[in-house]
Amino acid sequence: MLVSAKEMLDKARAGKYAVGQFNINNLEWTKAILLTAQECNSPVILGVSEGAGKYMTGMETVAAMVKAMDESLGITVPVALHLDHGSYEGCYKCIKAGFTSIMFDGSHFPIEENIEKTKELVNASHALGLSIEAEVGSIGGEEDGVVGAGECADPNECKMIADLGVDFLAAGIGNIHGKYPENWAGLSFETLEAVNNAVGELPLVLHGGTGIPDDMITKAISLGVAKINVNTECQLVFQEATRAYIEAGKDQTGKGFDPRKLLAPGFEAIKAKVKEKMELFGSVNKA
Ligand code: 13P
Repeated sequence: MLVSAKEMLDKARAGKYAVGQFNINNLEWTKAILLTAQECNSPVILGVSEGAGKYMTGMETVAAMVKAMDESLGITVPVALHLDHGSYEGCYKCIKAGFTSIMFDGSHFPIEENIEKTKELVNASHALGLSIEAEVGSIGGEEDGVVGAGECADPNECKMIADLGVDFLAAGIGNIHGKYPENWAGLSFETLEAVNNAVGELPLVLHGGTGIPDDMITKAISLGVAKINVNTECQLVFQEATRAYIEAGKDQTGKGFDPRKLLAPGFEAIKAKVKEKMELFGSVNKA
């Protein structure tokens, strides 16, 4: 069932667990994540970056595929189709295409402009029942062309953005997209605590979920994080499983070249990774 992400994240925040956002790239990714959510009886958020949307020939295609697949597979757990790191124009495209949730990433604008644009998009999305995520501070590294310096969020700015009526908030706390460097200083729990105190009960979002140690994840959830984004980790396990299949020569045995066989190990690897994360985040049986 495609729904806004508001209710599932309010429940997660109150219940002290987090819902995973897993980014999708194609049919295999989408099917693997939807089936795992159903098997785990967990709510789930499908994240779509603008780059991935373009790769899949546009947000209309993505929305049509996800909606049809959700119905065809008989998925009954709550599923939100969410734009990840949306531009101002990208948000409107996804609202029109039938997404159930958007993220406006105005973190690279001066705070006044971030506020102005976020406010407008809060009204536009809420008018149609979509949920909306905003960002303050920035997530380090690169997410599909969106580059961030990784500065920690200012709690006062977080409060200003929260007061606009956003449904959940991504605050930079030293997190980075992609793999973490050896010399990474870790998450700034000081910042997270200050942001959490400033925004009250608003669910917080932890981007850059790949490679964050389990104990930091658990601590972040205890400090108000109710949505955790994972992308690179699914890409890595897909790549590793596909490589192993080919290196074992399985693509050259019988009909092993059939794309349905060739992509199957990667598909299963994504399923296993998503299940592992849902267990860690505590969202199993919370649908
Ligand atoms: P990772 O690719 O580091 O898991 O980050 C995902 C993310 O934050 C998407 O917005």
